[in-house]
Amino acid sequence: MKTSVAVVLSTAFIALGASAFPTFKRSTPTGPNGEPYIPGKWFDRFFMIVGENMDIWDVESQSTFANLWKDAPNGRVLANYYGVTHPSQPNYFDHIAATTFGWNSDSVVNITGSESFSIVDLLEEKGISWAGYAEDYPITQGCYIPYAPECANGTQVPHSYVRKHFPFVSFETIYTNETRCNKLYNANMFWKHLEEGVLPQFVYFIPNLLNDGHDTNASYFANYIEKTWIDTFHYNDYFNAGALNYISLDESGNTTGFNTVPGDNNNHIYAALWGSAVTNRNTYDKYDFTRYNHSSITATLEMNWWGKTGLLGRNDTYAPVFALPYDGTD
Ligand SMILES: *[C@@H]1O[C@H](CO)[C@@H](O)[C@H](O)[C@H]1NC(C)=O
Ligand SMILES: *[C@@H]1O[C@H](CO)[C@@H](O)[C@H](O)[C@H]1NC(C)=O
Ligand SMILES: *[C@@H]1O[C@H](CO)[C@@H](O)[C@H](O)[C@H]1NC(C)=O
Ligand SMILES: *[C@@H]1O[C@H](CO)[C@@H](O)[C@H](O)[C@H]1NC(C)=O
Ligand SMILES: *[C@@H]1O[C@H](CO)[C@@H](O)[C@H](O)[C@H]1NC(C)=O
Ligand SMILES: *[C@@H]1O[C@H](CO)[C@@H](O)[C@H](O)[C@H]1NC(C)=O
Ligand SMILES: *[C@@H]1O[C@H](CO)[C@@H](O)[C@H](O)[C@H]1NC(C)=O
Repeated sequence: MKTSVAVVLSTAFIALGASAFPTFKRSTPTGPNGEPYIPGKWFDRFFMIVGENMDIWDVESQSTFANLWKDAPNGRVLANYYGVTHPSQPNYFDHIAATTFGWNSDSVVNITGSESFSIVDLLEEKGISWAGYAEDYPITQGCYIPYAPECANGTQVPHSYVRKHFPFVSFETIYTNETRCNKLYNANMFWKHLEEGVLPQFVYFIPNLLNDGHDTNASYFANYIEKTWIDTFHYNDYFNAGALNYISLDESGNTTGFNTVPGDNNNHIYAALWGSAVTNRNTYDKYDFTRYNHSSITATLEMNWWGKTGLLGRNDTYAPVFALPYDGTD
């Protein structure tokens, strides 16, 4: 942990005086099916994008990531953010369900019965629009059930979409319900919805195995973010207005000594927030050293739209809500 925080700090003060803290006017947008936005306490839209399996030092050493939160509107680094387990899949479960269900593998599993209660049920109940978008998802819209698309000879299409990174298709309350399945899209639809200004209020975006760094490395991931996203992240007013935007990894890269060796081996990962929901009063507010993990995502969504946490009755009960108007307790 010491090393990682030092990496963050060493680049920290370059940002001094770098940017003003812009404010955005909230509009009254709608989701892809014309659903009116339900206003939240701090934000009307949450966007998240997730990379794969890299240590914090590896990601921070890429200038794209070292600068992303410095240059983004109201950007902030979460310098003490952790994945919840290894390997990948249970981290993605935690994103939407605030628990790994004790699961520790990437193999195909269906989360059924009351266990399959997730943030999606809460959002649906309140009429808050949501969607999952995945690059190389083999269909345009709906639930694709297999693990991965296959080549004619039966092998997995390399560097493509994989089920373990797209949790929705594993949850019974979603895969048995066509209405909900139709909120899962190929990523091309994200760009269409962005262009048309009809993004839903909860946006979950998963790159393919090349772009997320899984089959590649941190510089490939950085290059992808730079080429594909930075323009939207930094300059798109629609994207940033009334928004809380999030980027992180599912888990760290070095799994040796997980939970026995301090630091990256405890799953310490890069994470950043930006968008109009983040209020930085000064440059120091651009650093948050609160200990967060993936369960803080559901906790934050709950506090934003329901005014309390723990609605899933899992780790969302204890996880700290992202400090948006920063309370200055670092
Ligand atoms: C999970 O559910 C899907 C859809 O109903 C089904 O096709 C698949 O066989 C199930 N997989 C397991 C491992 O239970
Ligand atoms: C299966 O087909 C793919 C795509 O044509 C090819 O890249 C791969 O090498 C093949 N694998 C085997 C074991 O034949
Ligand atoms: C499917 O999901 C929709 C949207 O949440 C809900 O209105 C409907 O009742 C669900 N259908 C079933 C059979 O659970
Ligand atoms: C990362 O991958 C790229 C190719 O995508 C390669 O050119 C580069 O050498 C790799 N970097 C490291 C540090 O392995
Ligand atoms: C992974 O962590 C172990 C335990 O701290 C350490 O000995 C090893 O050098 C690390 N490997 C890499 C590639 O960072
Ligand atoms: C909290 O998360 C851990 C790991 O995901 C899980 O084992 C535990 O059961 C969760 N606690 C609750 C109350 O859901
Ligand atoms: C995630 O954070 C919450 C709140 O601090 C905690 O209850 C939970 O145990 C953490 N999960 C893991 C796997 O450490």
